[in-house]
Amino acid sequence: MKIDESLVQWVEIDSQAFRHNVQEFKKRLGRTELMAVIKANAYGHGLLVIARLAKEAGIRWFGVNNVEEGLALRQAGFDQAILILGYVPLSQAEAVVHYDLRTVVYNLENLKVLARAARQQKKKAFVHLKIETGTNRQGIPIKKLGIIFREIKKLPEIVVEGLSSHFANIEDTTDDVYPRYQLNNFLEAINWFKRQGVEIPVKHMSCTAAAMLFPETHFDLVRVGIGLYGLWPSRETLVSCRMRGQEPLKLKPVLSWRAKVAQVKSIARGACIGYGCTYRTTRPTKLAVIPVGYYDGYDRSLSNSAYVLIRGKRAQIRGRVCMNFIMADITDIPGVKLEDRVTLIGTDGKEKITADQLASLAGTISYEIVTRINPLIPRVIV
Ligand SMILES: Cc1ncc(COP(=O)(O)O)c(C=O)c1O
Repeated sequence: MKIDESLVQWVEIDSQAFRHNVQEFKKRLGRTELMAVIKANAYGHGLLVIARLAKEAGIRWFGVNNVEEGLALRQAGFDQAILILGYVPLSQAEAVVHYDLRTVVYNLENLKVLARAARQQKKKAFVHLKIETGTNRQGIPIKKLGIIFREIKKLPEIVVEGLSSHFANIEDTTDDVYPRYQLNNFLEAINWFKRQGVEIPVKHMSCTAAAMLFPETHFDLVRVGIGLYGLWPSRETLVSCRMRGQEPLKLKPVLSWRAKVAQVKSIARGACIGYGCTYRTTRPTKLAVIPVGYYDGYDRSLSNSAYVLIRGKRAQIRGRVCMNFIMADITDIPGVKLEDRVTLIGTDGKEKITADQLASLAGTISYEIVTRINPLIPRVIV
């Protein structure tokens, strides 16, 4: 697709890369279903853009964070099974039932209001019970399953479609002791239901790293986010793959972030650049002013440390990242002119800058770099 000339910055979404990543996971999943985790504006890639690509790739499950994201998908005509992974306030139970959204549930109060809403609408409410296996985020402690299940039996409108959990320490380490502890806890919960004579159809606990490393955690559905966008959860995940003799998935980054040069200027040796005069030139310098700042999601901690690509070459950020601008040193890049293309994340000629590189410079993870890209910046499928 051609980029609209009126844009000063945009995010390119590589549809081929996305399809490729889906296939890389599908090859390893056998009969297990693949959920595309598209919460947080599809990890900054654009909720509806990615939903469309995921649907075209045959994905039948979407994972979102809240009712608003689920609603946006329904209003755009998506009929996939949508599971809300975050918290649904009691007041939104009616909307959940009305729009046929599924929710992860871990409180009795939420179950009761969902049942009431379903009764009023003469429908069923589909829930996935979240089991506390050791992350100590959302979840029902295994010893409380008896109490919850007794109450659920009094609520015929509730359909327990799923049983889920989430790993705490799978990306940050090559050590599999904690994931195995959590897996065992999850198996204990599954067996607890079996003993009650209940077989819950959709059991799931895998994120990207688990889907890659531990086939025994796949169960009926895996919830894959970062991997579908072509990013590795961490270096440790890649190392773990190699340590286990597994062939690492060949992932292709889906997102590129581009902008246009807003001004080219020459400044003298000894001049200071930007707020706080944190950079002073040591030679006559040529600068490109780029209309992207921390408001857009370009982290302020990248001040004086990251680089962008212009004309296939690296241009170092000089001075602080401003709210809406950054300045880059183009002294050694001949011929840069107004409205030349700038790459903040992505490839330009033989050079590239990845979300992982920016994350490492900013002291964070690639997840944060991409999810923070301002949702107002147009996402364009290429
Ligand atoms: C509950 C839940 N499941 C799955 C995922 C997907 O994780 P990943 O992006 O590592 O695949 C997340 C991500 O934050 C999550 O919170």
